[in-house]
Amino acid sequence: MNFNLTKKILAWYDNNKRDLPWRVGKRSANQLYYRVLSEFMLQQTQVKTVIPYFVKFTKEFQNLDTLSKASERKVLKLWEGLGYYRRAKYLLATSKILVNKLNCKLPREIEKIKILPGVGDYTSNVLAALIYNKPTLALDGNVKRVISRILNKEVKKINFEVFKHINKKNIFNTNRNSDLVEAIMEFGALVCNSKIPKCSECPIKNNCKFYKSKNKIKPIKKEVINESINIFCYLSKKGEIALTKKNNLGFLNEFNLPKIESIKKNKSFKKWKLLSKYKNSISNKKLNINLYYQFSKDIPNNYSWYSIKRNNEFMPSFTKKIFKQVSVLF
Ligand code: ADE
Repeated sequence: MNFNLTKKILAWYDNNKRDLPWRVGKRSANQLYYRVLSEFMLQQTQVKTVIPYFVKFTKEFQNLDTLSKASERKVLKLWEGLGYYRRAKYLLATSKILVNKLNCKLPREIEKIKILPGVGDYTSNVLAALIYNKPTLALDGNVKRVISRILNKEVKKINFEVFKHINKKNIFNTNRNSDLVEAIMEFGALVCNSKIPKCSECPIKNNCKFYKSKNKIKPIKKEVINESINIFCYLSKKGEIALTKKNNLGFLNEFNLPKIESIKKNKSFKKWKLLSKYKNSISNKKLNINLYYQFSKDIPNNYSWYSIKRNNEFMPSFTKKIFKQVSVLF
């Protein structure tokens, strides 16, 4: 009966899987490139958001070799809007190691895959399964939820040990390991979804403790943090804005964000003029932003002037919005 569970999920996958551009087989020369790129992009990001970025990226860099020779500037520019920009830097570093040191071959052992920059537990396991058909599962949010429902156990209790334990009973036993990792993810995204699972059309409902239980576990709610922040921009009459470089991205990135309370007490506060109030979301934060400005010749240490017109350089969307707002002053 347990073996049936795998068979049923795989049969469901064969009939229902989405046609995603990175789902290429061993015969494609780009299998490793497509899988590494898509798994980096899919960290913390949904499939529908990733697709256009993946297409744009693979048009510009057609294989791992061309990516490994790209400039960080260009890679970041293509990543612009996808967020978590550290991933783009790690991807470039990983591509260089694969091309220059590993002859474009992924190591076979999970521990060795994990040495690649930006590759943790999840990505190393998923790549080992996808590229080498290793019998492992990558525990992302979707997969944890599916297992938590099958067992009717809270998601926070689902870890690799629990998985190994249930797998001793041959629940996930197949030689299609590579398909199985994606099948469970896909099943979690399309049927066993977070808010309202489609139990009526579920092929494994008879094996599912959540479906059968009267005391069903609750879906986990994403915590949303509401925050008000004040942004203070120094501007020059020449059309420049003062910025500080942070996080080593080497580009326009972080703003000076002093707390309004301390500034209000300061006599110099009246020099700041309110330009606009607007909302912006960054991952689970909903920000209410008050944007202040003043024209000034003096700027704090660690700040430099940047022309507001530098619009074709990489900029996180948070920064871009600020540029757009202040540009009305010129
Ligand atoms: N999320 C992470 N990796 C994925 C994949 N290969 N297919 C669908 N969703 C995913």
